[in-house]
Amino acid sequence: MAEHLYLQASSRTERYRELYPQLQGLLSRETNLIANLANTAAALRQVFGFFWVGFYLVEGDQLVLGPFQGEIACTRIARGRGVCGTSWHTGQTLVVPDVDAFPGHIACSSSSCSEIVVPLRNTEGEIVGVLDIDSDQLSDFTEEVDRPALEQIVELLAPLFSR
Ligand code: SME
Repeated sequence: MAEHLYLQASSRTERYRELYPQLQGLLSRETNLIANLANTAAALRQVFGFFWVGFYLVEGDQLVLGPFQGEIACTRIARGRGVCGTSWHTGQTLVVPDVDAFPGHIACSSSSCSEIVVPLRNTEGEIVGVLDIDSDQLSDFTEEVDRPALEQIVELLAPLFSR
């Protein structure tokens, strides 16, 4: 079956609002973890044109690169390292307006200027990975718009990680 996203809005807030139910529908029709993470990354990149969108998944004391859209990236990040490892360690979404100003930022690409990292939780509330989005624009992500919208989107993924 062909899958399409229908988006008309021009503002980012409205586009998140249009995307959410469509993504919910898309994910509900498939149970495979990799397929759903891959489509989530693709949808976010397709809709917003972000430079890099992807997942890092917890494996022992490291995050390991999962499905993503964009340039090749570093494959393993230790807990507490970089923006991703810090988000995992603290359990907090991190909005980084200027990656060069973030101590320990891991530069997978020199084109990345700002970043948002959202922890992924399973239905038991345990962190199982992070969603990482990079932009080639400074200050591209906000606490007010991107953070709540992306936190709502990753909640759709929680059942996929439950044991
Ligand atoms: N910048 C991230 C590393 C992953 S790449 O951006 C894809 C970090 O500092 O954790």
